[in-house]
Amino acid sequence: MLSNSELKSLVSSRVPGRSLPQPFYNDPSVYERELELIWEREWLLAGVVAQIPKPGNWFTMQVGRSSVVIIRDRSKGIRAFYNTCRHRGSRICAGEKGSSATLVCPYHQWTYGLDGKLMFAREMGVDFDTSAFSLKPVHCETVEGYIFISLAEEPPAFDDFREKVSPYIRPHGLENGKVAYETTIIEKGNWKLVLENNRECYHCTGSHPELLRTISEFDGPTDPRFGGDYAEKCIKDEGRWTAAGLPHEPIETDEGYRLVRVAMERGLSFTMSGELACKKLMGTLDDADVGSLRLLRFPNTWNHALSDHAIAFRVLPLSATETQVTTWWLVNGDAVEGVDYSLEDLTAVWTATNAQDQRLVEANQLGINSKGYEPGPYSSLVESGVTEFIDWYLSTLVRELHSAPATIRVERVAS
Ligand code: FES
Ligand code: FE
Repeated sequence: MLSNSELKSLVSSRVPGRSLPQPFYNDPSVYERELELIWEREWLLAGVVAQIPKPGNWFTMQVGRSSVVIIRDRSKGIRAFYNTCRHRGSRICAGEKGSSATLVCPYHQWTYGLDGKLMFAREMGVDFDTSAFSLKPVHCETVEGYIFISLAEEPPAFDDFREKVSPYIRPHGLENGKVAYETTIIEKGNWKLVLENNRECYHCTGSHPELLRTISEFDGPTDPRFGGDYAEKCIKDEGRWTAAGLPHEPIETDEGYRLVRVAMERGLSFTMSGELACKKLMGTLDDADVGSLRLLRFPNTWNHALSDHAIAFRVLPLSATETQVTTWWLVNGDAVEGVDYSLEDLTAVWTATNAQDQRLVEANQLGINSKGYEPGPYSSLVESGVTEFIDWYLSTLVRELHSAPATIRVERVAS
């Protein structure tokens, strides 16, 4: 593992305005420190509440070395626990999702309630105190249908984020939505390349014909390409949203999150035709053209909420050069497949876009692995989102390093 001073000097070696030095993208010893300093400390998107609508519904996610189970309890609250038995440590829930009245460890059948309390442990003697062996909780918060977790002992502040973004998301009614479709892909690329790729649309004209049928590659009025008919439509749409009480002013922070409602350039929804993918609008919306509400939170999620559906994205690192990307498509909870929507219409654009982005990320990784790779310049005109992400990443690493133990055993991982 890299020592604090080795990591600091690697951070210092980065030339401002350029992509990162090679080890940030493929060195397992950098990756190990990222797990500790970022992934085990920050708030992470776990998923959406619509995945687990009923008590006993659960899903698991892997954060570095730790499996976490997220579960709906009997009072319909959502909790997260380490998926590790308090007896001798066996993993409890196998697989990605399930439903059960209790959580039973497969090894010796210690049995936990949906609140994590140990209910039953056979043959442990009469003096055995079950109350001392509840499942270890993981911090868990929900925000208007999104679930966030943090593995930190004391996680970063969260209330400000919730207060700011909730009024924007609430009209979309994600809490009462249903998951119509879900995909998980493994991209052979470092997790930061997945985020970098998401943070710019410089690549869109060359790669995303389906997405560009409706979306603008312009990020808003600050983008130098912004103007013309699209600028006029933005003014018109924003006036209508303001009159309807629908928030749209951008929220931009240095806290690793941003949110903005962006007008569609053409059409109403992310479909091949631009028509709505689902006849039933979401939440309390009655305007079919509410643009796309875009919620970004580093290090692992970006989201679009439209009038008729929402798409949530979760990024989880698997190794220095492999990343899992899960996508959920949500529709109104009362919508019926085949009547109100077809999965083909709903998923065509982002299924294609995800596959295109996967190819871009994997080619990016292959090129970076080369002896010939040298960090290159970000465009100050159209890659400011990438710069914003890299600035957040480096400043978070450095900040967290200050609270990390000073002496770390130096042990290079063979690669
Ligand atoms: Fe879970 Fe023994 S390890 S019951
Ligand atoms: Fe893309």
